[in-house]
Amino acid sequence: MRTNYCAHLSAAELGQTVTLAGWVNRRRDFGAITFVDLRDRSGLIQLLFDGDSKGLEQAHTLNREDVVQATGTVSARSDSNINPDMSTGTIEIRVTALEVLNRSKTPPFLVEGDGSDTTEETRLRYRYIDLRREKIQRSLGLRHRVMKNMRDYFSDEGFWEIETPFLTKSTPEGARDFLVPSRVHPESFYALPQSPQLFKQLFMVGGIDRYFQMVKCFRDEDLRADRQPEFTQLDLEMSFPNGKDDILATLEGTLSKVFKETLDLELTIPFPRLTHAQALAQYGTDKPDLRFGMEIKNISDLVEGCDFTVFAEAVASGGKVAGICAKGCAGYSRKNLDELQNTAIAAGARGMAWIKVNEEITSPIAKFFDEAALSEIISAFEAEVGDLILILAGQGIERSLGSLRLAIAKAEKLARDEWNFLWVTDFPLFELDEAGELTSSHHPFTSPAAQDMDRMATEPLTVSSNAYDLVLNGTELGSGSIRIHQRPLQEQIFKLLGISAEEAELRFGFFLQALEYGAPPHGGFALGIDRLVMLMAGMESLRDVIAFPKTTAGICLLTDAPMPVPPEQLAELGLQTRSGQPHG
Ligand code: AMO
Repeated sequence: MRTNYCAHLSAAELGQTVTLAGWVNRRRDFGAITFVDLRDRSGLIQLLFDGDSKGLEQAHTLNREDVVQATGTVSARSDSNINPDMSTGTIEIRVTALEVLNRSKTPPFLVEGDGSDTTEETRLRYRYIDLRREKIQRSLGLRHRVMKNMRDYFSDEGFWEIETPFLTKSTPEGARDFLVPSRVHPESFYALPQSPQLFKQLFMVGGIDRYFQMVKCFRDEDLRADRQPEFTQLDLEMSFPNGKDDILATLEGTLSKVFKETLDLELTIPFPRLTHAQALAQYGTDKPDLRFGMEIKNISDLVEGCDFTVFAEAVASGGKVAGICAKGCAGYSRKNLDELQNTAIAAGARGMAWIKVNEEITSPIAKFFDEAALSEIISAFEAEVGDLILILAGQGIERSLGSLRLAIAKAEKLARDEWNFLWVTDFPLFELDEAGELTSSHHPFTSPAAQDMDRMATEPLTVSSNAYDLVLNGTELGSGSIRIHQRPLQEQIFKLLGISAEEAELRFGFFLQALEYGAPPHGGFALGIDRLVMLMAGMESLRDVIAFPKTTAGICLLTDAPMPVPPEQLAELGLQTRSGQPHG
């Protein structure tokens, strides 16, 4: 129905007759002349209807979002009509024939502009109109190119893309399962996979050697801007890897290709690495944003036994005194400092000390130190005149310092404009959950570090693992690990996690059995594609890079899912709602 895309035309086609098809972006009438901006996926072009145009009369009736087909000649615009803000701003189509293919009701919001004339709720209800907006089309186009380049890369590296089941059994990744009732087997349920973890490991047992998949994963968890209940992973697994290095190099290879091909950017590889312990001690988080410095400095040695009891007691009781230096922030007001203190307290600190390094030092703790001791503290932070030092004392203060660091970087706009990739390695194998029980930091299939094995039973929290995360500008993009490939070790881990032998058999028996039939050493990774594309597109929410996203309440506003179902359908599944009544 068309010869060209609107915005692919340029002065090179002057004089050609073209047929275009798309949506009316807007119409401007000047009596004998009418301008219509026509839009398709490529962008906009101006249609000109004048006395010579066959469709002038019909053009007067065109409204926003009507669908039309127009034939005409590519012409140069008069100088006064040139629009430098439009990629096709020097040309227009002098229309000789117009056909209205479909009419549109008045749309609930404008497709042009930044979307500020409406709410996100309305945009999501009418997502098919929202999808016409340039910002969303750009995101989805980028998403397509990112995924295509990933596929090409893995295919070239000898990985096979193989699908894994969606109707399956629970795959623990720390969230709740979405369950699907079975009609044929009443009172039995499939679980939608939280990830293809067990199946990809079975691929390795099955001799597939190298597998990848762009796969939907389903997790019933509290939603945020960077979490959706269904999301897409680039999932991969390889057999006989040379430790984690082969896996990290594969990820670096694919990301280099993706950035080069989609944004024309050269990434510097290999990406730097920090161990989990270093990341926590230096930046107070396992996903440090290294687009700015402000490293945490531990000054426990300097303040041990000092007159300020808060510091002295923190050190004496095995805690720490540490802080950060905010460059050029000595002018912060009482209000600024109170806000920072609230940030630290919200993150678990008990209070916050500060030192303003001006010609004269001001600090509520200055009186506890003589001049030499104070200047030693200031030098430990490499602080100069104009800087502000913030100090916390106690146990586990790193995370609070991490929050302070981020708050200052945000307020001072410190983040450099760069793509800062970082590997965080050697995560602890276990951590304590809210109930104080041992839980896997990554997932139960992660192998422990060989040198720590002998402490598994006695001091499990000190055992390190072969797990690694990829971080981009402070966002966790993906995780992976070298796996356990022997049944006795896998059983030992389940036991430490409080999973009895019976429960392990019930939940993971098929998998434990597979480990007994020649499971090779293997490892892998999964990268959140939605998160990667969100950062690459410069968006702040996954909803801007997922075609049909859900709200933070887990609702699809377009379809109104989830929905109550008729009683007959429930009966067929052998189910009854608590009220016994259909809802709604
Ligand atoms: P993990 O649970 O860390 O690892 O998930 C990998 C990556 O998937 C993305 N992600 C999400 N994205 C959007 N919404 C969510 N709710 C969501 N949850 C996770 C993140 C995350 O880093 N099986 C392991 C991988 C492995 O060991 O190979 C796994 O799924 O970017």
